[in-house]
Amino acid sequence: METLGSLRRTRYCGEVSLADAGQEMTVCGSVARARDKGGIIFADLRDTTGILQLVFDEDTPKDVFAKAESLRSEYVVICRGKLRERAAKTDKIATGDVELYVTELRILSEAQTTPFELRDEINVNDDLRLRYRYLDLRRPSMHEPIVLRSKIMQIIRNYFCDNHFTEIETPTLIKSTPEGARDYLVPSRVQPGHFYALPQSPQLYKQILMLSGFDRYFQIARCYRDEDLRADRQPEFTQVDEEMSFVSEDDIMTLNEGLIKRLWKEMLDVDVQTPFVRMPWNEAMGRFGSDKPDTRFGLEIQDVTEVFKGTEFKPFAAVLEAGGSIRAINAKGLADKLTRKNIDKLGDIAKTYGAKGLAYSRLTAEGTTSSFEKFLSDAEKSALYAALNAETGDVLLLVSDNDWVKACTALGQVRLDIARKHGLIDPDKFNFLWVVDFPLFEYSEQENRWMAMHHPFTLPKAEDLDKVESDPGACHAVAYDIVLNGVEMGGGSMRINDPALQDRMFRALGFTEEKARESFGFLMDAYKFGAPPHGGMAYGLDRMVMLMLKKDSIRDVIAFPKVQNAGEPMSGAPDVVDEKQLSDLSIALTLKD
Ligand code: AMO
Repeated sequence: METLGSLRRTRYCGEVSLADAGQEMTVCGSVARARDKGGIIFADLRDTTGILQLVFDEDTPKDVFAKAESLRSEYVVICRGKLRERAAKTDKIATGDVELYVTELRILSEAQTTPFELRDEINVNDDLRLRYRYLDLRRPSMHEPIVLRSKIMQIIRNYFCDNHFTEIETPTLIKSTPEGARDYLVPSRVQPGHFYALPQSPQLYKQILMLSGFDRYFQIARCYRDEDLRADRQPEFTQVDEEMSFVSEDDIMTLNEGLIKRLWKEMLDVDVQTPFVRMPWNEAMGRFGSDKPDTRFGLEIQDVTEVFKGTEFKPFAAVLEAGGSIRAINAKGLADKLTRKNIDKLGDIAKTYGAKGLAYSRLTAEGTTSSFEKFLSDAEKSALYAALNAETGDVLLLVSDNDWVKACTALGQVRLDIARKHGLIDPDKFNFLWVVDFPLFEYSEQENRWMAMHHPFTLPKAEDLDKVESDPGACHAVAYDIVLNGVEMGGGSMRINDPALQDRMFRALGFTEEKARESFGFLMDAYKFGAPPHGGMAYGLDRMVMLMLKKDSIRDVIAFPKVQNAGEPMSGAPDVVDEKQLSDLSIALTLKD
């Protein structure tokens, strides 16, 4: 193995072009592939920017050629040479017009055969890739998103700094507070029996910073939530977190539309149209069955309750009697694709989301097959067809439920499944929208009480202030989520800055005065010393990068992600610790098998 000696990089592999032909340069990186053609050797050199072909032949100095003969995949080298036009050009790599004719070569590190080939075109088991994440991250398709993520963070920082924000770090060892997801806990050695929590978000600190007079804050903050993994959820993730004083929700949304516009322009050269649609929560649930509607395709849900007023069809009649509603989708022109078997599968999806069943009518040229039409009067049938604009070739799908939200949620999932399976989604679209006017509370059957839909500091809408105690279910929040292509990319709210109102909120959430003081006393005290009106929001950075780069999972945009069991396969975290460490923390384990 050799050292760098006096050689230092003068160019990056991926950044040279035909315009540089004739130049002497020094490049370094790993050998992606070496091919000895007898008398002529080609090697693809890979660095963080891309790949450049190296070439050695009989005119190459003898000692250099001998070294080139020993090159194997993943050897780390530095080399000097002259860039020249390539005889056989390729458009497979960005630098396919040129090659480096090498005159000096130093092998800085040899490499064993890797457990899988480090090429983009390969199919390798996920576990193996994650265990050898450092190798997987050498593959261009895995490497590039991480580099782009860094660029995205830089644009975000610049945007906030240009708009008078101050970047402030908040603690990551904090007090555990109720509400929200389960906390990750860290035991204190100095105060036995006491625990820190890792922050689920910097929420309380950023509000306090507004009270400290910082006016506008942002942070790219690590957050931790002990909740189950999904394609767009990690136990450890990053937020772009912000808070502003002396603003309204409109100011916050407008400023953030500016951020999105700049990001999409600078990263993708896409002109995003602003302002975004602002869709009330009720409408999002009613039309799309989701508080994060994917508006890239139609298949909207319709309310057909009126059609069935006075129906003899028992299941619908029972729902109507209980004040429920009947919602429907017309899968237009999909009768050929949605066979009975497929409809049964859609029924299973609807049931997973709480529906009792999925009623259907398949209108084919050969006739109609339906699970419920035979129970309808002719008038009902024609009213239904008219309401849904039903024609031959369509499939009508209906859910009835006492709770309209449940009916819509189930159909919303059916809608998504149909769109995904039958190619109704244009993958090139970026459909942004704000969902606004969220309910302030949601009822938890599990806890048997009202919970804050966002968090306990969210400002109720002015017109609902008198209903916080008397009719919590009817109150709305000054809260907004930013949704892109059916994913909640971020969300926030205006905050309560009146201690008396905050106190009422805690009560409505079932906190005793003692419990509220114990959990949030410092915040309640802080508000007594003058609090500007303020609000903010946070983006999931991982989700933002995933959506921008059109990746299927946030794992693909996180350098070292966690897997299903919340472990990190490369390092083997979490792991057992030794007795001494536990005893320092005054911890004794009582493990159940
Ligand atoms: P919220 O809980 O909605 O709001 O989180 C903000 C955004 O963070 C992202 N996110 C996640 N991303 C990956 N993995 C997770 N487990 C995960 N959980 C959330 C989502 C989400 O929209 N403090 C408030 C914001 C505020 O009110 O200012 C908050 O944390 O994209």
